[in-house]
Amino acid sequence: MIMSSKKRVLSGMRATGRLHLGNYLGGAKGMLALQNDAHYETLYMVADMHGITTPYKTEELRKNRREMVMDYLAVGLDPEKSIIFEQSEVGLHGELAFYFSSVVTIARMQHLPTYKEKVKQYPGASTIALLNYPILMASDILIYKAGLVPVGIDQEPHLEVAREIARKMNETYGTDFPEPTRFATKGEYVPSLLGEGKMSKSVEGSFISLTDDLPTIQKKLAQAPTDSGKGDKVPKEGGVSSLLKFVELFEGEGRRKDYEKAYLSSGIKYADLKSELAEAISSDLKPIQERRKTYENNPSLVDSILKEGAQKARAIAKDTVEGVRLKMGLT
Ligand code: TRP
Repeated sequence: MIMSSKKRVLSGMRATGRLHLGNYLGGAKGMLALQNDAHYETLYMVADMHGITTPYKTEELRKNRREMVMDYLAVGLDPEKSIIFEQSEVGLHGELAFYFSSVVTIARMQHLPTYKEKVKQYPGASTIALLNYPILMASDILIYKAGLVPVGIDQEPHLEVAREIARKMNETYGTDFPEPTRFATKGEYVPSLLGEGKMSKSVEGSFISLTDDLPTIQKKLAQAPTDSGKGDKVPKEGGVSSLLKFVELFEGEGRRKDYEKAYLSSGIKYADLKSELAEAISSDLKPIQERRKTYENNPSLVDSILKEGAQKARAIAKDTVEGVRLKMGLT
């Protein structure tokens, strides 16, 4: 057997619909960077099982998991370089999550901020699946013995759980799970266009979709709140701060510095800033939109990418689960 010396990477996103700029900058960019680095073997999945941990509509989930695959391919995830698959197609994730659940207490899961938020958001729907969310995520990662996980900073509490599970399993059963760490990108915190909180699909006006064309981007930026354009301190929060962050992400740090200088002296003309920024964002999104069209026009190609991805993923996952069963006395 040839052992790969490459470091393994796994990441995924919940299948909740199309990606926006926040998911792209905070998640997909990191996934792309690692895919295109020959030191890593990358596995990227659509977390459709995580999609059933809060109330959902079956037809929407069916649609969303496909949309997410299309967005993955559109942003440049490449089946020649990465294993791209749907989580539920590799049922072993669920099996390993159950084994893991034997080393995790209910109290630990109930205290996670992510769990508490969801319970607040969906009162009366605090299901076992929701409580189990971080355990399933740990299984997603550890089933491939992945040591590196490109995700947004909001996922850090979940990665901590994955590390705890790895440690506990290794101590208790002598397994050899790595303790996964997060791979961070510069765009990991993408602010809302409205200047309050982060860009989120559930807040109207806060986000730009990957499918937005130039006029739509212009319209959304036009609504971003601004101020008089000058002052003796560059704002650290609010609409102006968000705009400057976008300038940095799409036009570079140098351009941001120019605007900051202007703010402290002659003043910023926001109409100019916004129109320049809209062009920059739009030209970044064009190739993504074109690639998406290619895949939209070729659904059977997408099917075969997913089929192959699931096969490859299953082969790795099977080895891990067999090893765990042996160590746990289940075979
Ligand atoms: N919880 C992640 C999110 O909401 C999605 C996810 C599920 C994930 N399984 C994963 C991310 C494994 C990284 C690795 O974005």
